[in-house]
Amino acid sequence: MPLREQARLAIQAAQEAVAAAGRIVVLSGAGMSSESGIPTFRDAQTGLWARFDPMQLASTEGFRSDPRLVWDWYAERRAGVRAAVPNAGHLALARFAAARPGCLQIITQNVDDLHQRAGSPDVIRLHGDILQSRWLDPCRAPEPCDPATAEPERPPHCTQCGNLLRPAVVWFGEQLPPDALTRAEGLARQCDLMLVVGTSGTVYPAAGLASLARDAGAMVLIVNPHASDLDAVAHQCLRGTAAAVLPLLFE
Ligand code: OAD
Repeated sequence: MPLREQARLAIQAAQEAVAAAGRIVVLSGAGMSSESGIPTFRDAQTGLWARFDPMQLASTEGFRSDPRLVWDWYAERRAGVRAAVPNAGHLALARFAAARPGCLQIITQNVDDLHQRAGSPDVIRLHGDILQSRWLDPCRAPEPCDPATAEPERPPHCTQCGNLLRPAVVWFGEQLPPDALTRAEGLARQCDLMLVVGTSGTVYPAAGLASLARDAGAMVLIVNPHASDLDAVAHQCLRGTAAAVLPLLFE
């Protein structure tokens, strides 16, 4: 069968699976936001980890060794996120969620807020929120310090105890927010259909949600223009971008 025809049939089968599913989970990764202009991590050349050292920029050790460098790098990424707008993929998911309340749950590894700004409700964030900050260390001051009162330097610091603010994202070696992970695992076990969109599937425990869903009996579909580490877990890989494929499946 010609490749075009195969692709058309795969999309048609996925549309039918979406229409039939009562509980759909979308697990999104950096590729979800790449057509909004936010770079991914591992795409060759354009990915952030192809150009920057993840241990310097995404670990507490890296932050402690050069807080200003890391703070400034996140300030640039925050500006990129604020300037970005949701793409057709984010919008298709949000419209579907509004049309079929309770049917679609988004679990994201992304630290941007584009699903939320598209209008998707109750997005589960596994890796934190780049637009927020939190204290690096437990507060040492007699009265707990308030991040809002931090001295606005690079990075901001507590005037009482010197504690530094850091971006509220999960760095390498850190635990995921336990409530978010527990909820995500429960939803993965209970869904009929999991769509894995724009992730390389290399970072655990997030990537493990796809096998959890499949082992519990869900259909697993991937939307990604390239191969990923989760392809073997999926029933079908739809080779296209999030902004091109999701509107076909959800509208
Ligand atoms: P990666 O950069 O590892 O993978 C991005 C995936 O998106 C790749 O498989 C690309 O082929 C795919 N992709 C690129 N453009 C796409 C598009 N337009 N539509 C659909 N897919 C596209 O990003 P993640 O898998 O999200 O951790 O990375 C996982 C985690 O590693 C991130 O959450 C981040 C990073 O370190 C934290 O921030 C804690």
